[in-house]
Amino acid sequence: MTGLSEREFNPLKVLHHIDRLRALADGEDVAPVTVEIDPVAYCNHACGWCVDPVHEPVQMTPEMYECLISELSGFDVNGFRVEGVVFKGGGEPTLHPQFGAMLERAAAAGFAIGVVTNGSRLMDWADVLAAHAAYVRVSIDGPTAESHERVHRSNDFAAILAGTQQLVENRRRTRSPVVGLSFAMDIQTVELGEEAIRLGERLGVDYILLRPPFFEEVGRVPTMTVAEARHVRSRLQEVAARYEGPIEVQIGNWVGDAESSGRRDARVARSLPIEHRTGRCLASPLLAVITAAGVVYGCCNLRALGGWSFGRLNYAAGQNLAALWRGEQRREILERMHRTECIAHCTHPLSRYNEMIEVLKDRERPHSQFV
Ligand SMILES: C[S@@+](CC[C@H](N)C(=O)[O-])C[C@H]1O[C@@H](n2cnc3c(N)ncnc32)[C@H](O)[C@@H]1O
Repeated sequence: MTGLSEREFNPLKVLHHIDRLRALADGEDVAPVTVEIDPVAYCNHACGWCVDPVHEPVQMTPEMYECLISELSGFDVNGFRVEGVVFKGGGEPTLHPQFGAMLERAAAAGFAIGVVTNGSRLMDWADVLAAHAAYVRVSIDGPTAESHERVHRSNDFAAILAGTQQLVENRRRTRSPVVGLSFAMDIQTVELGEEAIRLGERLGVDYILLRPPFFEEVGRVPTMTVAEARHVRSRLQEVAARYEGPIEVQIGNWVGDAESSGRRDARVARSLPIEHRTGRCLASPLLAVITAAGVVYGCCNLRALGGWSFGRLNYAAGQNLAALWRGEQRREILERMHRTECIAHCTHPLSRYNEMIEVLKDRERPHSQFV
């Protein structure tokens, strides 16, 4: 298998974590596969529909980061360990003045690294990213200077393209990092889907991701009606289906509720996300989020939302991740998450994992005798 869709983006890659899913199905705890670490809590762009609920002038201190990476590299819960670190949230991760050193440190500790960025500082970090990241996704959202400015309220489109080009050049045709462009498109930009693909081709990236943005789940005012959102998704799907060129074109598979059938992964079609059907989310220990201030959350959708944290890291006072992971506060919040009390914020990032856990939980294994 050689293509991105058969390898890096293959949803069946979860099979590599079948033991962890089985442990969760058996009610045991695990270490997260992936830890999202927010280097900063601020951004130099101002997207109206941003998924990050708060921006504040906070950055992770080098001391906290060092303690955290050291701890993560030995973090073990029932024999399960952390494998990947993602820098994507809280704001714009590449704005941290030590972003390059943070990347190098995580790589030296043996973690696979993913980065999601608005691209504004790519020129500064292209070398270190090419050397250490497994993937870099650049959130462009508008494929022209005008459309980019409308969404990001910044005018650094040319610098972002130059930085992306530099990154692509730096990796010298190796497969890593996989570089992609993502486009959250609404009714005003939907007709630029083909332009987005052309931009991806021009920059030589591996893939582009087209998707309508979320609104209600991330606490933002919609920029389009539900009917328009449906139109956007189907237009994006048409554009992707027509395309026969060299790069991978994906349509976002996050699931929102307002648009009951349209804003869905085409493969899940009209069925409701599993968390709605079962009223259960058992997969969340697969992921942990740590904000720039060191506050720990159990899901990317709950990042920085009051009342959902597992507590705050304080290494000087002996409050490390292990203490929070075992702590009473996490136990209580996890129970609420298990009962999907957080469903109003959910973009269903763990649906597939939850579905597998539900299957593994079914001791009767109905019809498993037939292939
Ligand atoms: C919030 S940003 C944070 C990282 C970085 N500042 C960036 O721009 O990529 C993470 C990703 O979420 C996407 N995003 C932001 N708001 C969104 C929304 N309402 N719906 C869907 N995706 C959204 C962005 O396009 C970006 O790809």
